[in-house]
Amino acid sequence: MNVFVLSVFIATVLSQALDFNKFRQYDYQLIIERASIPHYDKRYMNYAKLTPFKCNRTNVALNRMASFKVNVGIDLVIMVQAYRFASNEYRSFPLRFQDKMCNLLKENIGGMQKLLNCGSFSGCPVVSNTNITVCNFIPDASMLPPFIPSGNYRLNLQALFSNNELFLTEVYGKVTRPEVK
Ligand SMILES: *[C@@H]1O[C@H](CO)[C@@H](O)[C@H](O)[C@H]1NC(C)=O
Ligand SMILES: *[C@@H]1O[C@H](CO)[C@@H](O)[C@H](O)[C@H]1NC(C)=O
Repeated sequence: MNVFVLSVFIATVLSQALDFNKFRQYDYQLIIERASIPHYDKRYMNYAKLTPFKCNRTNVALNRMASFKVNVGIDLVIMVQAYRFASNEYRSFPLRFQDKMCNLLKENIGGMQKLLNCGSFSGCPVVSNTNITVCNFIPDASMLPPFIPSGNYRLNLQALFSNNELFLTEVYGKVTRPEVK
């Protein structure tokens, strides 16, 4: 694949203010394989839990519940870093961006607005001391950056508030393209 096009795209994304209009593509699919919240900080969170389940032969969907001790309001920041599997390990991949969660939601990055369809999550501002649930979430690959090479990936999504990490979400998935014969 076109590593040149990819690096130009990434350089563009990093050098300008994030332009989420570029997060559109119809070239590859993303299949989630597993996901978890390996840790959360008990000073800021009552709990945070992610439960993946196989919803049909191809797709894994995510259920999530979380309760914030602190009032993050509209200021929860999500920092995304991708890792690509190569030579037996996940290696840092040049796809990295961060923004306020409320902005990512507004821009529907990765189909995030579907988070509002099932469960008690009602969007922004985020409320505290409430069981916020999300169910049956499957990301929408058409709302992700173009030119991502096929392969196995891990996405780290770090949730930050005032520079403190509240929780980390790890998502493992596969980028595939329909076979051309
Ligand atoms: C699996 O479920 C997802 C989401 O409901 C749907 O988009 C997809 O087409 C389904 N795949 C199959 C093979 O049924
Ligand atoms: C949060 O809500 C979900 C869905 O209703 C429920 O399954 C879960 O037990 C609740 N968690 C807590 C800690 O109350």
